[in-house]
Amino acid sequence: MIATPTKTPHTGQDYLQKNVTQTTDPSPNQCLLPLTAKINHQDHLEIGGCDLKTLVEQFGSPLYILDKTTLTTACRQYRDYFKTYYQGESQVIYASKAWSALAVVGIIATEQLGFDVVSGGELYTTHKALTQLGCSDQEIAQKIYFHGNNKSETELKEAIDIGCTIIVDNWLELETLAQLAHSHPNQQIPILIRLTPGIECHTHEYIRTGHLDSKFGFDPNQLEAVFTYLTEQPSLNCKGLHAHIGSQIFERQPHQDLAVVLVEWLKIGQEKGLNLTELNIGGGLGIRYTEDDDPPSIEEWVKAASEAVMKACQRFDLPLPKLIAEPGRSLIGSACVTAYTVGSRKEIPELRTYIAVDGGMSDNPRPITYQSPYRVVLANKMSAESSETVTVAGKHCESGDILIKDAQLPQTHPGDILVIMGTGAYNYSMASNYNRLPRPAAVLVHNGEANLILRRETYDDLIRQDCFPQTLLS
Ligand code: LLP
Repeated sequence: MIATPTKTPHTGQDYLQKNVTQTTDPSPNQCLLPLTAKINHQDHLEIGGCDLKTLVEQFGSPLYILDKTTLTTACRQYRDYFKTYYQGESQVIYASKAWSALAVVGIIATEQLGFDVVSGGELYTTHKALTQLGCSDQEIAQKIYFHGNNKSETELKEAIDIGCTIIVDNWLELETLAQLAHSHPNQQIPILIRLTPGIECHTHEYIRTGHLDSKFGFDPNQLEAVFTYLTEQPSLNCKGLHAHIGSQIFERQPHQDLAVVLVEWLKIGQEKGLNLTELNIGGGLGIRYTEDDDPPSIEEWVKAASEAVMKACQRFDLPLPKLIAEPGRSLIGSACVTAYTVGSRKEIPELRTYIAVDGGMSDNPRPITYQSPYRVVLANKMSAESSETVTVAGKHCESGDILIKDAQLPQTHPGDILVIMGTGAYNYSMASNYNRLPRPAAVLVHNGEANLILRRETYDDLIRQDCFPQTLLS
């Protein structure tokens, strides 16, 4: 059984999953705080056995704190539940756009997951990390799937050199690949075809990708022509189909519908003579950002998707394809928190109290971009009762730089450690240097040890790419 936090948390303590008899690990995507979160004898929040106040003293703030146990538990759950519920071969690949960094790739690769990359930069990072881990060229090629709706020729050549699977998004890419294949006569280029399945889901408009009005993938009415083209291109090894319908999804139905659409197209492709044996259903499972969010567990999602694919295969009389899923947020989102130091305070009587922290929209652009809600605790006062409603503001020169509106917190003071939960996905990866703020450091915590995985940027890092024109000097 999974703990649901109390509807209205009154203290930081109320956000912890506890006092619940659990027969299995909780599903990380249903937890507000990482699985190892505890309160220590000083009433401080501890994650991975590390006191967050001490971490800030040691590494500074803002600080991303990534809990290894939560991340590896999510990886293991995805991997093992596919083995349990899907009767064919399966592979889980991490959507590295959620957070691409050498250490993150390293941890996830150790859990035997593969990787979805969407740019030359993500490909480079993933390739570097896998090489550092000692993976062979062949293993690396098998682990990586390369996405993107406008891959450059250079990126395509990099992908061909590595030998990874390219998820082809459009005609230009398909034709470019067919041409590039001429200079690799002894190599077949493995590809999947991405299609737009026309499935709506109730999530934020900007992150909906499966509906027909989408920049991603082939429109279904193009697919027969694509299949015909592929039968004439022996240098392209089309292994199967891909679709992704959106992100932060709480319903199971859209992926069940997607399974039917994809299996039906798999059948049509096979009838055209293509040897299609892989089916990639994308990612999209949501996480709990607030106590009101109620996503299915990883187990429930995997079970629903697996059963839908198996049922559709039975209906269309197809052997089970290799089933691939590519979650990002639900693997890493709940494994990380961001710690800030509280600074200035502005009280506007009868209107609002602002408290400002030492980061903001540059380390977490999700509130200003998507109006995403977050929850917060004071890491140095975990049992203190909430006593005021405050708006947590960032330090950027932008009125919209608000991290949380109307947060319930105990009385805060400058120097308090304010912790925002659920910041593992699309925070560091979308971070910027707006107002020339150096990007924060990140630490990996596990069994009482904290290891730096991303160094805090310095002022010199900020001007590293700047060039001073000679003409100014003359
Ligand atoms: N596969 C494809 C092709 C995708 O486009 C995405 C996410 C994923 C997998 C992983 O989806 P996930 O499991 O993480 O939901 N920046 C936005 C999210 C954009 C998602 C883009 N694509 C946010 O911060 O909410």
